[in-house]
Amino acid sequence: MKNILAPSILAADFSILGEQINTVQQAGAGWLHIDVMDGAFVPNLSLGLPVVSSIRKRTDIFFDVHLMIEEPIRYIRDFAMAGADGITFHVEAASHPAKTIEEIRRCGKRVGISLKPATPLEVIFPYLDRVDLVLVMTVEPGFGAQAIKTETLEKVKELRRRAQVTGRELDIEVDGGIKRETIGDALAAGANVFVAGSAVFKDDIAANVKELCGLIS
Ligand code: DX5
Ligand code: ZN
Repeated sequence: MKNILAPSILAADFSILGEQINTVQQAGAGWLHIDVMDGAFVPNLSLGLPVVSSIRKRTDIFFDVHLMIEEPIRYIRDFAMAGADGITFHVEAASHPAKTIEEIRRCGKRVGISLKPATPLEVIFPYLDRVDLVLVMTVEPGFGAQAIKTETLEKVKELRRRAQVTGRELDIEVDGGIKRETIGDALAAGANVFVAGSAVFKDDIAANVKELCGLIS
């Protein structure tokens, strides 16, 4: 499996967002992680469609859109049109996860399903063979710069074990508290897509990306 660093623009400087995206792409980031929050599913607001369509004009990097919104099915087509490449929704937020998956497929995008730290892994088992990616939240969704909840890596281990048994190339993504001190544990647990916000968008951004990429290569 290919290991991918996905910087989260939640921690970027939005006044120079385009520049910072070019910097992370040139330094070796494979995907760009885009956190969308609605102030209802999570107690915070972030960014939405206009930002996605604006940055789409400036870069060809893979847009990994993480929807932290209630009833995400309502906005799948809009995010697809705005330029998402992969769309991940929360199983807790969707009253019809199977229909939500179908809608993402109909839009021709890669499908991701996510779960919060307290949600048991079994909740997503019925959908596993229909998704390309599972996003295991390693912190409570809503805010950047929190410490990783290390017990969530048990879910990553179990998922990778299951994927291997069935011979599947499932992308397993970790999000929250990923930095130089923790990325190795997530890698060892079986993750292959690593979101990092606050660990990337500070000081020397290119150096941060190169260091984190080095730790997963
Ligand atoms: C949290 C978001 C994360 C966040 C990660 O709800 O889903 O993507 O930006 O931030 P760090 O890497 O700072 O923990
Ligand atoms: Zn995220």
